Amino acid sequence: MINDIERVLVTEEELDKKVKEIGKKISEDYKDKNLLLVSILKGSVAFMADLMRAITVPCQIDFMSVSSYGSGAKTSGVVKIIKDIDVEIEGYDILIVEDILDSGLTLSHLMEILKARKAKSIKICTLLSKPDRRKVHVDVSYEGFVIPDEFVVGYGLDFDEKYRNLPYIGVLKPEIYN
Ligand code: IMP
Ligand code: MG
Repeated sequence: MINDIERVLVTEEELDKKVKEIGKKISEDYKDKNLLLVSILKGSVAFMADLMRAITVPCQIDFMSVSSYGSGAKTSGVVKIIKDIDVEIEGYDILIVEDILDSGLTLSHLMEILKARKAKSIKICTLLSKPDRRKVHVDVSYEGFVIPDEFVVGYGLDFDEKYRNLPYIGVLKPEIYN
């Protein structure tokens, strides 16, 4: 597995430090709120697990699983909900926890769906962002690392469902996915 990694982009130590920083900010911002963290499966599980333990104010957690319609590797941005949030979100301050913001199509469509359900507020927290790939603007409130346009894996992120268990974020050797 490690032999498939070209180089480490974000180390375990850097991840740890950044996640704690974001957790601290969220704890300040959501002091008197009704926080519901919504992790988008499966890529954000590692981030979610660490982030929730860095948050010191009361919160609830939930999970959503979405898939985008469209042919092959191309995201159409139209998302289908595979697993929905268990509770009615009205009255909650929703914070979506995502692994990576790429084209932005998935999250912008998901925001439309969730906004229609009248939560008290909806914000986005993403661990990684690839601005060079953005197709639609998405308002992000918390962002861990801005990264170049390279395919990364680890700390929850996969290629073909593998590499999610790497403890760091690494750039995959192009010969693996080409
Ligand atoms: P988008 O913002 O709608 O293009 O899609 C974002 C999703 O694409 C993320 O939640 C990831 O599942 C996936 N993705 C985008 N870039 C990468 C990457 O570099 N490695 C692994 N998954 C990625
Ligand atoms: Mg994902």
